[in-house]
Amino acid sequence: MNDTLLEINDLHVSFHTVRGVIRAVRGINIDIRQGETVALVGESGCGKSVTAHAITGLLPTPPARIERGQIHFDGRDLLQIPAKEHRALRGVRISMIFQEPMTSLNPVFKIGEQIADVFRVHHKLDARAAWNKAVELLNLVKIPEAEKRAHEYAHQLSGGMRQRAMIAMAMASPEPGLIIADEPTTALDVTIQAQILHLLSQLQKKIGVSILLITHDMGVVAQLADRATVMYAGRAVEQGSVEQIFTAPRHPYTKGLLNSLPGNQKYRDARRLEAIPGTVPDLRTLGDGCPFLNRCPHPGDRCAQEFPDAFSDGGDHLAWCWYPEGGIAAGHGAAGRKAGDKQTGGGPTGTAATTAEEHTDDV
Ligand SMILES: Nc1ncnc2c1ncn2[C@@H]1O[C@H](COP(=O)(O)OP(=O)(O)OP(=O)(O)O)[C@@H](O)[C@H]1O
Ligand code: SF4
Ligand SMILES: [Mg+2]
Repeated sequence: MNDTLLEINDLHVSFHTVRGVIRAVRGINIDIRQGETVALVGESGCGKSVTAHAITGLLPTPPARIERGQIHFDGRDLLQIPAKEHRALRGVRISMIFQEPMTSLNPVFKIGEQIADVFRVHHKLDARAAWNKAVELLNLVKIPEAEKRAHEYAHQLSGGMRQRAMIAMAMASPEPGLIIADEPTTALDVTIQAQILHLLSQLQKKIGVSILLITHDMGVVAQLADRATVMYAGRAVEQGSVEQIFTAPRHPYTKGLLNSLPGNQKYRDARRLEAIPGTVPDLRTLGDGCPFLNRCPHPGDRCAQEFPDAFSDGGDHLAWCWYPEGGIAAGHGAAGRKAGDKQTGGGPTGTAATTAEEHTDDV
């Protein structure tokens, strides 16, 4: 049975500005199954929110232009359906939780009214019943004194409570399918962040919703996600289960993100700095090679020439790197295994494999 809820194929999004064409998303492929949490992780400006806005139909067009790709959801390509139908999915089948809920909560209506509205419009409840359901949900997301808080406005709530109200709103949907949580806990302190992530995970179990979790924080990925796509400069550079990515990261960028986790010594070695040195490249002037080249600790001859093919250990763990960590030094296009290739020869840790670190010593 195919239980895929969302499938993004070869998505390309550019911004056509007076200062040039910004290629914000360049060939992203992501699928999310029913009830699964998939993280999109990467530094600021790598294209996470642009990908999310392509799903929700919230890209500003112009200057944004979807150059290529498909986004299949509920069996339809969201990029082909009329804007009216796309809009109709928002808040019903696709809900969003943003870093700053003030931008999505209406400042002039009480919190309870905003949630009750969803019950009135989509569940056709009368005003009293809708209000009661709103209070019930505010209780469920553990807003203290929910009945009293329901009468308050967004600015009267703390950041954590506003985020809980947004989650309640997502839960009010009559047929929730996908929640896109874009940096949902970035503005919160660590304790509240943990509580909100726990709440999201409980919600997911309760109603079986899928979550696309957008974050720059590998700690958040570890806490909530089943699988992850690591993005860099508009590209996916590594993809796999959270276990695969945390136990055997293949891309040096992923390794850098893991190293930047406070207290994480696992992937640290003498040649690595705590933070990833350098800055992200200008998305207007990207060449054909690997976009991580200027920050990579062990680039090889091939890296400047062409964007890497996906390297795979054999399963669905992919890394777009010519010289993957623990992989094969000569560039897997020649000596290693491209994703989809037949599994032959020594694996990345086998006797035929030379590690990327050894490669670094060679150059
Ligand atoms: N409205 C816009 N006009 C022009 N360029 C834009 C616009 N929105 C986004 N971009 C470009 O797209 C790139 C990706 O932006 P995006 O918002 O997806 O980054 P992000 O990964 O979500 O980063 P952050 O973690 O800071 O939210 C940006 O670097 C920017 O150059
Ligand atoms: S080894 Fe090459 S392909 Fe891999 S991340 Fe470094 S520069 Fe990119
Ligand atoms: Mg963003």
